Amino acid sequence: MNKSKIGVIGMAVMGRSLALNMADHGFKVAVYNRSKELTDEAILEDVTGNLKATYTLEEFIDVLEKPRNILLMIKSGDPVDKIISQLLPLLDKGDLIIDGGNSYFKDTIRRAKELENKEIHFFGMGVSGGEEGARRGPAIMPGGDKLAYERVKEVLEAISAKASDGEPCCKYTSRDGAGHYVKMVHNGIEYADMQIISEGYSIMKNVLKMSNEEMADEFEEYNKGPLDSYLIEITRDVLREKDDMGEGYLIDKILDAAKQKGTGKWTNLEAIDLGVNTSILLAGLNSRIISSQKEERKVASNILKYEASNSNYNKEEVLKAIEDALLASKIMAYAQGFTLLREAAKVYNWDFDYKEIASIFRAGCIIRSELLYAIMDEFQKDNDLKNLMISDNFSKILNERTPGLRKVLKIAIDEGISVPALMESIGYFDGYRTERSAANLVQGQRDYFGAHTYERIDIEGVFHHKWNWF
Ligand code: 6PG
Repeated sequence: MNKSKIGVIGMAVMGRSLALNMADHGFKVAVYNRSKELTDEAILEDVTGNLKATYTLEEFIDVLEKPRNILLMIKSGDPVDKIISQLLPLLDKGDLIIDGGNSYFKDTIRRAKELENKEIHFFGMGVSGGEEGARRGPAIMPGGDKLAYERVKEVLEAISAKASDGEPCCKYTSRDGAGHYVKMVHNGIEYADMQIISEGYSIMKNVLKMSNEEMADEFEEYNKGPLDSYLIEITRDVLREKDDMGEGYLIDKILDAAKQKGTGKWTNLEAIDLGVNTSILLAGLNSRIISSQKEERKVASNILKYEASNSNYNKEEVLKAIEDALLASKIMAYAQGFTLLREAAKVYNWDFDYKEIASIFRAGCIIRSELLYAIMDEFQKDNDLKNLMISDNFSKILNERTPGLRKVLKIAIDEGISVPALMESIGYFDGYRTERSAANLVQGQRDYFGAHTYERIDIEGVFHHKWNWF
């Protein structure tokens, strides 16, 4: 019997789509799901005959080529540990388990260690692109056992998205949890970019009073310039969509309470842990939190007052400023994400090639955008670049576009529109470019109340001042 090159456990949307994608590329794939129905559905969808249904883990293991390659596409957390412990007695040394879910990277580091002791290869793999991406070509971020990766590289590169130069958007990142870490940071940037765009939408809708069609046209225009990206593209489509359950446009019926599954939260918790400023990413997260407090906002809207200036604005000028604001803010969101990756590389001992990471993001994933080509160029010149903002190219763009960002912020403040991600962006820009900040006062205060000591600008050393307490 023809054995399968790889096996996929978990036939929910992502697992099924990846398995079918592999089958389309000519690979024999064994599939298994806890409940039989999802396995049968996957088989029904397969037109290649390359999928092999199995209904017990024993049968699944038995139909795999040796050494075995097993991809887990199941819910992250405990289910991953559970399935690994069920698989272990059935596996042989040298077999490989890949976790393709949105697992927490510290779990991946732990699992990699535990399995290494048992001589089972393991790697964590970030997969981005949603259902469509998984089916037609996702961005893939593998991290872990490099030798084992080489074994499945052919399959993963084949099913991955391809950038415009034909390169597969699948690159080995680094050891143990690195792939899941890169995916986590991807999601942090995803949250930020979605929020940034929605703030642009809010100004268009609430200040410029544009219709959905007009806004869709504008996003379509933006998409022809440097903002060209998947999220801008789908914004256009979401705005144009008609309501299938009533009159008018769907966007006007969708409840303004954003949900989340946790990866954006992890990014920010991690950034705080490592002492990296991801304020724009955090604004993305916080905006979802405040959005979900719909009932409280309803009450507060009748209590907390502001008389909007209701000024007349030159529509063309504001739309240009919004484009500038979105671009500047998006660049800084990427800058914060890559800065976090740089710090993580030191802390977790990963060898990141940032150009390669940017290259993975170019197609298939949610944050894919034209900007990534320029980001690749900067990291190609200098993998140790401290912050994308100070590179020749991006500093120039930011210096040109931040006046537009400031203009949008002034309008937002005057009109009482909430734009936290854009605000954090200018805060980050001004904070990072300020040579002499106000932190001297914080240090003075710390030394005053807690003898925490301070350093001086004129004399080397650490000092404590005998403050005159009144
Ligand atoms: C992707 C997405 C995806 C993400 C979901 C849910 O890259 O395909 O990042 O993996 O987990 O879109 O995210 P939230 O529910 O947290 O918005």
